[in-house]
Amino acid sequence: MHKNLHIYKRFLIVIILLIALSSCVNKTKESGYRIGFSQCVGSDLWRKTMLEEMKMELSLHQGAELIYKDANNDSKVQASQVKQLLNENIDILIISPNEARPLTPIVEQAYSKGIPVVVIDRKISSSSYTAYVGADNYQIGKMAGSYAGVISGGSGNIVEIMGLPGSSPAIERQRGFAEGISKFTGLKIVNQIYGDWLKGNAKQQLSKIREVLGETKLIFAHNDQMAQGAKEILDQLGLGKKIKIIGIDGLPGQGGGIQMIDDKVISASVLYPTGGKEAISTAFRILNKESFVKENILQSLVIDSSNVKLMMLQWNRFSSQQKDIERQQELLSEQQSLFESQQLILNITVVTLVLSVVFGGLAFFSLLENRKINKRLEANNHEILDQRNQLIEMSEKAERATEAKLNFFTNISHEFRTPLTLILSPLEDLLKDEKVNALAGQHLRLIQKNVYRLLRMINQLIDYRKIEHEKMDVRVTKNDLIAFIREIVDSFKHSATKKNIDLRLISSGNIADIWFDVNKLDKVLFNLFSNALKFTPANGTIHITIETREEAVWVRVRDNGEGMSTEEADHVFEHFYQASSNSQKGSGLGLSLSKELMKLHHGDLSVESKKWQGTIFTIKLLLGSAHFSDAELVNDSILKEELYENARIYTMDIEDGPSVKNQDHLMVLKDQTILVIEDNFDMLNYLSDKLSKEFEVYIANSGENGLNSAYEQVPDLIICDVVLPDFSGRVLSERLKSDLRTSHIPIILLTAQGSLEQQINGMESMADAYIIKPFNFDHLEATVKNLLRNRFLLKSHYTSDISSSTKQPVSKTLDKKFINDFSGIVEQNLSNENFSVDEISKKLGISRVQLYRKVKALLDCSVTDYILNRRLKKAKYLLLNDRYSISEITYMVGFSSPNYFSTVFKSKYGMRPSEFKKNQV
Ligand code: FRU
Repeated sequence: MHKNLHIYKRFLIVIILLIALSSCVNKTKESGYRIGFSQCVGSDLWRKTMLEEMKMELSLHQGAELIYKDANNDSKVQASQVKQLLNENIDILIISPNEARPLTPIVEQAYSKGIPVVVIDRKISSSSYTAYVGADNYQIGKMAGSYAGVISGGSGNIVEIMGLPGSSPAIERQRGFAEGISKFTGLKIVNQIYGDWLKGNAKQQLSKIREVLGETKLIFAHNDQMAQGAKEILDQLGLGKKIKIIGIDGLPGQGGGIQMIDDKVISASVLYPTGGKEAISTAFRILNKESFVKENILQSLVIDSSNVKLMMLQWNRFSSQQKDIERQQELLSEQQSLFESQQLILNITVVTLVLSVVFGGLAFFSLLENRKINKRLEANNHEILDQRNQLIEMSEKAERATEAKLNFFTNISHEFRTPLTLILSPLEDLLKDEKVNALAGQHLRLIQKNVYRLLRMINQLIDYRKIEHEKMDVRVTKNDLIAFIREIVDSFKHSATKKNIDLRLISSGNIADIWFDVNKLDKVLFNLFSNALKFTPANGTIHITIETREEAVWVRVRDNGEGMSTEEADHVFEHFYQASSNSQKGSGLGLSLSKELMKLHHGDLSVESKKWQGTIFTIKLLLGSAHFSDAELVNDSILKEELYENARIYTMDIEDGPSVKNQDHLMVLKDQTILVIEDNFDMLNYLSDKLSKEFEVYIANSGENGLNSAYEQVPDLIICDVVLPDFSGRVLSERLKSDLRTSHIPIILLTAQGSLEQQINGMESMADAYIIKPFNFDHLEATVKNLLRNRFLLKSHYTSDISSSTKQPVSKTLDKKFINDFSGIVEQNLSNENFSVDEISKKLGISRVQLYRKVKALLDCSVTDYILNRRLKKAKYLLLNDRYSISEITYMVGFSSPNYFSTVFKSKYGMRPSEFKKNQV
């Protein structure tokens, strides 16, 4: 989608550029030329007409610019103006030079720079120009001369008023006129004056020669302006009608020469066209690199009374045509601007159209895309909705399942209570029976204690589940808290006295009635008191204080028992958390349950403890009842339904079970010894009891004690619990199996962890058997006996013969090494009669006792027996050899005298060595 948009954006830009380009191409190509025009003087009618003609022609060439400069009859000014024009980057220069000589250098300069130069009317003194436009002034002068000859009858005086000296028309017209009148010998130019092309100057000069005018027949002025001036002087002198005047220019319109002829101001004028139109058209031909004529000579004619009307007529027509043209041009330009604006509108319309097509396309495309996205979103929505519904359904199912599970759990927990109660009551009956009690009291009390323990655990689990699923609420009543606590404390008095513990309830007397749920707070208190009793050693103290402070009542249970580390105290309220040292004393649920029960009371339970110094548990109960909801508040008194049961449940297992019997040294020692390592007191007692019927039993309640006992006693077999307070049974097994002193001892691991993986794990620790709790004692006993029998078979294998001891595979490499080392030391010292057990134990790096135990366990004989046996066996072997005498052999096998050797040999083999040798031979 994003990629598509990108492509469309690019497409759009290209289209816009194309449109812009096409609109540029469609426009008429404009010339854009800069035309510089330097005029010698611009104020007179002839020059104005010239400029008008130029502009008229220019209007046919769009875009060209005319930069106009007027020198006002000053050649210097004109030269600097041309310079200026050249600096303004003109494309072409049109110049009508005031005087030929002063203007020639600047025109040459322009020409040599490559700027085309069109000279108009007056000339320069060089041919360095591109084109010339103007009438032939010599011819014009000549035409005027000829005409003067005709109208004067071929004789008479002539006064000539000339133009600016140094300007080319003045020079040429004068020459031409002289030529024109030369055919008429009677004609004579009596006076020549310079009027500088100006009316005023002409009048001034003419006034100076007024004395000659009386004899003058004709005045020839180089332009109509000066001719008009002459007329005015003549009129002043009263000679206006007598003297004929001929001028030059023949301009049409008001104030022009034609008008003057018609008005009889002058007799005639020779037409001198301005050439403005031609100059512009020639300039464009040059600029556009078209062919052009360098010398453009304009036609002329004499205008007098005979053709003046015709000229006027023609002028009027021309003039009206001109106006028509101008109007049409205006119309044209209106049309042009209309066309341009329409073109612009068209372009805008086309662009808008294209854009709307493009945007329309894009909009359509995005509409389609949106539809697709909407469809996808709709589908997603459906999916999400479906998933949501499924989730709701699933969570409802899960809720139902949890509910069902909870119900099942609660039901089954209650179900457990029934058989337990059914065990308890006949059991208690049996305990009351003195005969039975004498016979099996100890076992029955063990059963009773554990039934109560089971009951407590089940009750706690049921409560905990209820709290966990928010199914438990408190039903509080107003009670006497001190009396309530005292009642519970009393039920622990017996246990405390037995352990000589100072159990005290200290209250500051005046405590108002407190609101609490008797059937919940009792559990908290029972749990705290029984914990305190369990962890407080004999002769310790447990002080319970009750006091009111800060809108609450605080119950503190302080003991001076073993206490907890900070880490243990931090976790003590977590479910199933058990500090490593007290796993045999609780399920790990009691404190967490108690905390929850206190929270239900909107109160709290907290702990402070120091290792080996003691623990303080503090209950906080708010005063009053405002913190309880209406549903929680109960006005009727509530039955303390579980108080009695709780008292039994929580106090029954505080007192230690029957103490482990000390080794009775007076009793006959059993052949084989078993070390039982177990942290559960009852289990330890039970096993010790049962096993001691057949075995000598050592006991240990931790890994460390177990290890020490194993090294010290070197038992024949070890039964060890996997979960021990300090380290696991597996670690213990690994350590014993990798120690020379104990490596031979079979180990049975006992555990509640029954997964296959855990069993394999146990076996990997080199344990010999792995028995899962709960176990059948007969099974355990069979396993014990089986392992001891196997050990016996192994012993007979080791003791059978020297040579065969290496052939059989020995599973325990350490034991094999021990036997090899031991037998090697013995073999090396057979001849040494002073060889002692001490020397062997020193060489092997174990104690004398360990050596005895290990040799007994592995070889089933004493060390001295083994040495004697080896001596006799070697003697037997040597006796078969002829090389040694009996007395030699006596010393070779380490006997002090042949007689002693003989006696010992006979007692073992039933014959003297000499008899044995004889028999073999
Ligand atoms: C105008 C004018 C004309 C004359 C021409 C000669 O300035 O004096 O009357 O014909 O210049 O250059």
